[in-house]
Amino acid sequence: MIKANKIEKTYSKTAILTPVLNDITLSIQKGEYVAIMGTSGSGKSTLMYILGCLDKPTKGELELDGVDVYGMDDDALSALRNKKIGFVFQQFFLLERTTALDNVLLPLIYANKYPDDALQRGRKVLAQVGLEDRVEYLANELSGGQQQRVAIARALINDPDVIFADEPTGNLDSQSTAEILDILGHLHQEGRTIIIVTHDRTVANHAQRILELKDGRIAEIKNP
Ligand SMILES: Nc1ncnc2c1ncn2[C@@H]1O[C@H](COP(=O)(O)OP(=O)(O)O)[C@@H](O)[C@H]1O
Ligand SMILES: [Mg+2]
Repeated sequence: MIKANKIEKTYSKTAILTPVLNDITLSIQKGEYVAIMGTSGSGKSTLMYILGCLDKPTKGELELDGVDVYGMDDDALSALRNKKIGFVFQQFFLLERTTALDNVLLPLIYANKYPDDALQRGRKVLAQVGLEDRVEYLANELSGGQQQRVAIARALINDPDVIFADEPTGNLDSQSTAEILDILGHLHQEGRTIIIVTHDRTVANHAQRILELKDGRIAEIKNP
């Protein structure tokens, strides 16, 4: 369902243009659970942003469900992304003085598509991450692990096929890390495609397949 062909990414900030990503070709099937590993600065986030259609490469092609992503205009691409992909980040990116429920509903408000059953959907995704009793709490009244669960619920609001998570446990203690990995495991069992970015091998081991980024290239280090 995600097919990247000869992806190259160079940032034009420095005088010497060393590619961060160099000739990345990979495919991820529907329903897979894949980890992308690599040391800090190896380009994991860059690759995730490209695979998630948040950023474009310098060169290369990307297909999502058979559609050539770079042949689409920006509006069509963001509509496709909103429908099919949910994102979770290390820093949660919640609005602090806003309730869990309103945080979860934000993508619907931004996309200008606020359905009649929005509140029900918001409550449902919060229940899916075990926060039915925290719906009206402000984000800054929640623990880090609970905040990340709200962020996962927000990623689920449009019922996406694919979840990208960039170091989702990077700011969490081991108990919360286990809870987040458990939720991602359940989402995988429901048939969603999960792509997790991490520098932590114990986290990556929850995936079926591990890809390692090194010197801008990718190697498969674990195969089912
Ligand atoms: N917007 C940007 N402009 C210039 N350089 C960037 C930008 N984003 C990332 N980089 C550089 O690309 C490299 C890879 O970054 P990143 O993808 O964030 O790595 P990782 O997520 O593996 O830590 C780093 O050297 C970083 O400084
Ligand atoms: Mg990163």
